[in-house]
Amino acid sequence: MGTDSQGRGEAETMARDRVIFTDKEALSWDAALRWSALAAQAARANRQFTVALTGGSSPDLLYSLMASPPFQDSVEWRTMHLFFGDERCVPPDAPESNFKQAQDLLISRIAIPAENIHRIEGELPDPDEAAQRYEAELYRAFALEPGALPRFDLILLGMGSDGHCASLFPLKPALREQERLVVATEPGLQPFVPRITLTFPALNHASNILFLVTGEDKAKRVAQVLEGPDDPNGLPSQNVVPVNGTLSWLLDQAAAASLVRE
Ligand code: 6PG
Repeated sequence: MGTDSQGRGEAETMARDRVIFTDKEALSWDAALRWSALAAQAARANRQFTVALTGGSSPDLLYSLMASPPFQDSVEWRTMHLFFGDERCVPPDAPESNFKQAQDLLISRIAIPAENIHRIEGELPDPDEAAQRYEAELYRAFALEPGALPRFDLILLGMGSDGHCASLFPLKPALREQERLVVATEPGLQPFVPRITLTFPALNHASNILFLVTGEDKAKRVAQVLEGPDDPNGLPSQNVVPVNGTLSWLLDQAAAASLVRE
């Protein structure tokens, strides 16, 4: 299947599966069941399982669930590798760090080997260097040939109230990146620190992508992204369409409130 200039799978541009839940708890349980089922499939096939985590408030309950029974003990963590879709340029112990959030809620509470955690070095003084180093880490971890794309088993994404995902903000040059897997970018929203982010070609090569979006402050933007006209520069989340993978938008009722189509 071909891709367009944003690395999106053409034929699937309109196929954005959406599932609406009563609340964030129900949504997070569903995401945990999907994550653990995909991981179990990989474990049965003796494959490692690669996940890119998201920051923000949307995944907090999901991470806590995955670190609690039954998932804490039943998931095959030893063969799971955790990556990050984006990071804020702060030290890994700063409250704004996406790594710290994952570390506190999930990583510190599961039996996952330290070498399976692939974090972005947000503490480096030069964000471009941090991006290059993370790209090199992806090449190493996925054993990529030059120019190849990593195929994550699962990418988790949230959507900001401006329509951004990962750290791909409206109107920023990072939206148009076609060569690099990882770039540094200026932020579009708080916290106003530089960011490191996977690019659309890297995101859209994943096997499975799950958006987790909750809260009424997202409702109008969700409707624009899912039902409005194509606006790749103004609504970055519209550019997430895997070339050969699944995409599901998990929404709570509040975030889905402005949708018109069934
Ligand atoms: C980040 C994120 C970002 C986030 C959205 C949604 O580092 O900020 O990875 O893309 O997912 O901003 O954030 P909320 O879930 O807090 O609304």
